[in-house]
Amino acid sequence: MKNEKSVLSDLKWAAADAAARSYSPYSGFRAGAAVLGENGRVYSGCNVENASFGLTQCAERAALTAAVREGARPGSLVLLVLYTPGLKAHSPCGACRQVMHELMKPDSRVVSCCDSDETHTWSAKQYLPDPFTPESLKQ
Ligand code: THU
Repeated sequence: MKNEKSVLSDLKWAAADAAARSYSPYSGFRAGAAVLGENGRVYSGCNVENASFGLTQCAERAALTAAVREGARPGSLVLLVLYTPGLKAHSPCGACRQVMHELMKPDSRVVSCCDSDETHTWSAKQYLPDPFTPESLKQ
């Protein structure tokens, strides 16, 4: 059984590997994300931009989409790590928070990291306090 530190380090490595493949010619902002399934599998993604700017996909959503594609059960993902190169750990955008909320476990965590020791960690309640959920559709 891996300890918490080594799981985080594996996810950071996978997120940094994904960030190295980022397609971000317009912003120059590279991002990579790695998400851990309850089965121990790691799924990753990077941001992919487009000349039609609104079609850009963020790293977090790319990783979550890959997880679902690979068979992870929606609602079962336990930890997501966002990596951005540089000395500052960045916040996930609002759209990604909404998608995380739907696909990750209620007691999951999101960690942002970078090349310095700066990290930020959020619980689901912290990153999206008042979510729109599948329940909301039932009125
Ligand atoms: N980006 C992400 O990949 N994740 C976020 O949470 C925030 C923004 C990407 C989208 C775009 O390619 C670039 O960063 C600048 O917004």
